[in-house]
Amino acid sequence: MIDALNKHLPLELNAHLIYAGQSAIFSYRGYTKLADYYKDSAKEELGHAQKVMKRIQQLGGWPDYVPDALPVKGQSKWSVRELFEANLATEQKVLDSLTKLIQAADEDEQDWETDNVLRTLVSDTEDDIQFYTAQLAQIEEIGLQNYLTAQL
Ligand SMILES: [Fe+2]
Repeated sequence: MIDALNKHLPLELNAHLIYAGQSAIFSYRGYTKLADYYKDSAKEELGHAQKVMKRIQQLGGWPDYVPDALPVKGQSKWSVRELFEANLATEQKVLDSLTKLIQAADEDEQDWETDNVLRTLVSDTEDDIQFYTAQLAQIEEIGLQNYLTAQL
């Protein structure tokens, strides 16, 4: 379980780095509502990473917190739609990882406390997926310009 949690940890840390960076990108571009949203998201992702690290320690392990791969560079030049699509893919990857971890915790280990911790992360991750899906749908419906005007 410790190894599996350590494999998941970089996904949460990557999400934290990505959202902290995107908050700065949106702030720089003047989209203050999105900048604020991402500031909160970055905090939330750090909280997820901290929960995973705490659980690893509770199980007697050490968190391996150095990410395998850093987030893709150059996002400051990406369009809002590209950022949302990338974030949606990131969160779906996180959800897949959580689903597999929960299955391992339940079926292989009967580790109900790890199951419990991971399910709180699932709920937030599903909210994030819903958020990006909704933003992309709004852009499709009202057009990018109208969408961005609402984010100023
Ligand atoms: Fe997360």
